[in-house]
Amino acid sequence: MGMMAMGMSSEKNEGAKVIDVIIGTRPEAIKMAPVIQELRSRDEFSARIIATGQHSDMLKQVLDFFSFSADVNLGVMKREQSLDYITSSVLLGVGEILDSDRPDAVLVHGDTTTTFSAALAAFYRRIPIGHVEAGLRSNDITRPFPEEMNRIATDRISSWWFAPTESARDNLIREGIPAGGVHVTGNTVVDALQWTRNIAKTPSEPCMSDLAGGPPFILMTAHRRESWGEPLAGICGALLEILRRHNSYRALVPMHRNPVVRNTMRRILSENPNVILCDPLSYPDFVWALNNCVLILSDSGGVQEEATALSKPVLILRDVTERPEAVERGSGILVGLDAERIINAACKLLGDRAAYAAIVDRCSGNPFGDGRSSARIADVLSAAMG
Ligand code: UD1
Ligand code: UDP
Repeated sequence: MGMMAMGMSSEKNEGAKVIDVIIGTRPEAIKMAPVIQELRSRDEFSARIIATGQHSDMLKQVLDFFSFSADVNLGVMKREQSLDYITSSVLLGVGEILDSDRPDAVLVHGDTTTTFSAALAAFYRRIPIGHVEAGLRSNDITRPFPEEMNRIATDRISSWWFAPTESARDNLIREGIPAGGVHVTGNTVVDALQWTRNIAKTPSEPCMSDLAGGPPFILMTAHRRESWGEPLAGICGALLEILRRHNSYRALVPMHRNPVVRNTMRRILSENPNVILCDPLSYPDFVWALNNCVLILSDSGGVQEEATALSKPVLILRDVTERPEAVERGSGILVGLDAERIINAACKLLGDRAAYAAIVDRCSGNPFGDGRSSARIADVLSAAMG
């Protein structure tokens, strides 16, 4: 994908195969944007964007950046929505769309409840499913929750599996998925990141203005369900302790919109003058922050991949990860949710230049892809559906 603007519309070519690309949350939009762009650049496809609206503003923020608008938006999100609610409303809503669209295929991404429910709606109608970012496994059905179940169930009912890495491919083969349908494509997040990196030269968000050319900073995000409550409070407390021991550092903490997460973060972090607590950043601003920070603390899946792609050390705030490549490379350090471990790992890196440099030096290449994943996915679909 070159540097041309994204945002081509879904105008239909005569005889083109109709593909409904179903997205619901921020990471699905970021990682599917390059795929939509690639499909729309080929006359043989007509790619429609079906948004479930599991996320409202966080999804729109991404679509706006990439200049896409949803062809359909089910707008299911409500405050503190339950898993039952998302599962059932996406199943019913996407089912109705598929009944009227009758697409030749659907594409879903990753492991959210949108992914699983939308795939189920397609499966019930015998519409073939392409699963982008297939085969990731933490091998603990409770972590991340409910994502590990979502991706296993989605893989079970898909027809094409776009595995980002060899290890994701191996996971699928081990589970009996037919090898002929599994394609190692790289992760489309690298396509999105490469495209955005060239645009993200300076931050546009006012709260970040002091950071450009200013003090070194730590970037932190956390939102996982299994961290809600005490573990998240512990993570925030650990950040304060790291800043106390390294008082020339700032921390940039873009808060997920989930009120459960925000309440905890605000309660613990809002008084500290060295913490910049802000709303979710636009993708280019967040990429700028990834690129310019010293250290990342995150429980996010996508951030582990992006940090690795940018050779940036990331302390992974989880007990297990489905992205072993980040850890194998040495720049991803699995610290879990224990405050003491988080503090020790961060202070070791911030206080020991040699240890820090050794990690960054070891990073070469990118295990998550080369920026051509979307083209590979479109090639596979072209051969299979043409
Ligand atoms: C969801 C996914 C998770 C993914 C994450 C990416 C599920 C079960 N979880 O988690 O896999 O890692 O998205 O961010 O699919 N909210 C807003 N505005 C928004 C978005 C969310 O106000 O734009 C608030 C709402 O109150 C909503 C709550 O956040 O009820 C939780 O959203 P939900 O999609 O249920 O869970 P996430 O934690 O975002
Ligand atoms: N991201 C963003 N703005 C932010 C925080 C994250 O654009 O303020 C991007 C980030 O670059 C990554 C994606 O959102 O591509 C990760 O989404 P999230 O952490 O919500 O979900 P996960 O990857 O854990 O499913």
